[in-house]
Amino acid sequence: MTIKVFYLDDLSASRRLAGRLASTLKTGDILAFEGGLGSGKTEFCRAIIHAIGYREDVPSPTFNLLQIYEPSVDDLTMPAVWHMDLYRLEKPQDVYELGIEDGFDTAISLIEWPDRMAGHLPDGHLSVSLSMSEKEGARNIIFEGDDYWNDRLKELED
Ligand SMILES: Nc1ncnc2c1ncn2[C@@H]1O[C@H](COP(=O)(O)OP(=O)(O)OP(=O)(O)O)[C@@H](O)[C@H]1O
Ligand SMILES: [Mg+2]
Repeated sequence: MTIKVFYLDDLSASRRLAGRLASTLKTGDILAFEGGLGSGKTEFCRAIIHAIGYREDVPSPTFNLLQIYEPSVDDLTMPAVWHMDLYRLEKPQDVYELGIEDGFDTAISLIEWPDRMAGHLPDGHLSVSLSMSEKEGARNIIFEGDDYWNDRLKELED
C-alpha cells in the first residue's frame, strides 16, 4: 500500500527527509529504491548513511555493486549499512555472489535498482520511489510497504 507521498523542493529537502527516515531505521530493514537514472536514489542513500553516523565519503556503488559501512569497535551502537546498486547485475541470481542475504539480517540494506534481482527481493521491504518533478531540482517520493511499515512511518514528516 502507499504509505506516504512527499514533494521535495530541492536536494536539501531530500537530505532532510532522509535524515528523518534514518533515525527510524534499524538492523534488518530493507529499503528498495526505484526511479530512473539521476532521480536521486544515491543522494538519498548517501544522506541516510551520513545521518546514521558514518562520516566517510559515500560513493555510488556503480561498479562494485555493494559498499559496506560498519561501525568502528568504539561505537558498536551504530547499525551496519549495506548499500547496493544492482544496475549492472547481469542475472538476478548473481546477487548471491555478493552475499546479499547476510546483510538482510545483520545490516540496514539500501538497494538501488532492486528490479535487477527480480524475485529475490524479500517481502517486507520498504519501497521508496523517486521521480523528477517539473521544477528543476525537485523530486517526488513515494513510500510503499505493508502494515508493519505503515505503522513505523506514521510519524514521518517531510
Ligand atoms: N531534490 C533532489 N534530490 C536528489 N537529487 C537531486 C535533487 N535535485 C537535484 N538532484 C541532483 O540529481 C542527481 C541525482 O543523482 P543520483 O546519483 O542520486 O541519482 P540516482 O537515482 O542514484 O541515479 P543512478 O540510477 O544513476 O544511480 C544529483 O546530481 C543531484 O545533485
Ligand atoms: Mg545511484
